[in-house]
Amino acid sequence: MIRGVIRNALVTGVAGVLAMGVAAAVASPADAAASTLGEAAAESGRYFGAAVAANHLGESQYVTVLNREFTSVTPENEMKWDATEPSRGSFSFGNADRIVNHAQSQGMKIRGHTLVWHSQLPGWVSGLWGDDLRSAMNNHITQVMGHYRGKIHSWDVVNEAFEDGGSGARRQSVFQQRLGDGYIEEAFRTARAADPNAKLCYNDYNIDDANAAKTRAVYNMVRDFKARGVPIDCVGLQSHFNSQSPVPSNYQQNIEQFAALGVDVQITELDIEGSGTAQAENYRRVVQACMAVSRCTGITVWGIPDHYSWRASGTPLLFDSNYNKKPAYYAVLEALGGSSEEPPPGGGDCTATITPGQVWSDRFNLSVTVSGTNNWVATVRLQSPQRVIATWSGSFSWDYTGLVMTVRPNGSGNTFGFTVMHNGNWNWPSVSCEAA
Ligand code: G3I
Repeated sequence: MIRGVIRNALVTGVAGVLAMGVAAAVASPADAAASTLGEAAAESGRYFGAAVAANHLGESQYVTVLNREFTSVTPENEMKWDATEPSRGSFSFGNADRIVNHAQSQGMKIRGHTLVWHSQLPGWVSGLWGDDLRSAMNNHITQVMGHYRGKIHSWDVVNEAFEDGGSGARRQSVFQQRLGDGYIEEAFRTARAADPNAKLCYNDYNIDDANAAKTRAVYNMVRDFKARGVPIDCVGLQSHFNSQSPVPSNYQQNIEQFAALGVDVQITELDIEGSGTAQAENYRRVVQACMAVSRCTGITVWGIPDHYSWRASGTPLLFDSNYNKKPAYYAVLEALGGSSEEPPPGGGDCTATITPGQVWSDRFNLSVTVSGTNNWVATVRLQSPQRVIATWSGSFSWDYTGLVMTVRPNGSGNTFGFTVMHNGNWNWPSVSCEAA
């Protein structure tokens, strides 16, 4: 079993840069990279958020990590209809207010989740029909959004309104059955009037694959809304992944196709079951996909430590149950452009350090020394369009892009080296290692 954690190789936490034309290879000190998820995301103008439960806000470890790492919160259950209007016309905002107040005291953004959803719906709603149901829906939107007017950056106005599977049909919720197709746009129009400054999102799961029937159905709805001037600003990809529902290979293309409709995309409930490097690489792919699309404006993970996840047994989050950062955390931080400056927690015992070697006009040598263990796996990430043209003192393999090189010891010690053809990009590759 693989133990240990991924750690960025450089003490400064940033890739060194070799100045073109300088014969001696000297690493210039660069600005320190962001060392938390929120700071790293902010460098590209994005937020990095977490679903938060009000009943954990009294726990010091929980709050410490929340405040340190995250720049946005989504109340996990506290703004849902059963929590905010448990009986008709009688609103209760206590737990949601606790989260909002905490977030505001920390300067965090707040995502509102969610106004119109078939689940967590109080029983009284399903006793209503026709215009009575319509006015209850509109009143709910107006009252809840009104209570938080000016405080919410994005609202999930309608949640999970389409069926799973290949039909592409609307989910047969009480709203769909009794109000018909028009209820979704009516909800968005009501929402725009209730808080004109909030971004209005349609949010769903299993709309992560660009070609899936459910995705196509949501895409067509958003395209139609944009064409007819129905107010919609964003699509939320919940992005709950596991082995039955893996990260699709066309995930970035999916973000791009929604963005091309003229809406923002937010990754709203990200969690990926698994552990170790495999989980970390899946997280990395998701974050890289968002980073590659300017209209992908923020990412929210659906919880902080694994044991509070709705899928706790799948350990799908970035922190373990002791609040240690997992390999997935470091992968996300790196994909956001940040870098960890601290020693690995929880007994991690592997450090990789880059040393510059000879430099030519078209290429340069680097060597990497791994310390802390003799049994390690190092990952070297080149920056396109770089290519490695020679290697020594390790056992090397590449991923299909040719940019990610995995290195293991080959019996010649803990220092390996390679030659990078820079092809115009003089940045050092990043290097991380994991104790095997
Ligand atoms: O608070 C009560 C507690 O008093 C009671 O003892 C306990 C007994 O079951 O239930 C507690 O309520 C639970 C609540 O979470 C708070 O923990 C509910 O039963 C449980 O159903 C509820 O689950 C939530 C689920 O939505 C409901 O559909 C999860 O926490 C929440 O993570 C999950 O979030 C949804 C998003 O809103 C929409 N997308 C999917 C996502 C995951 O299912």
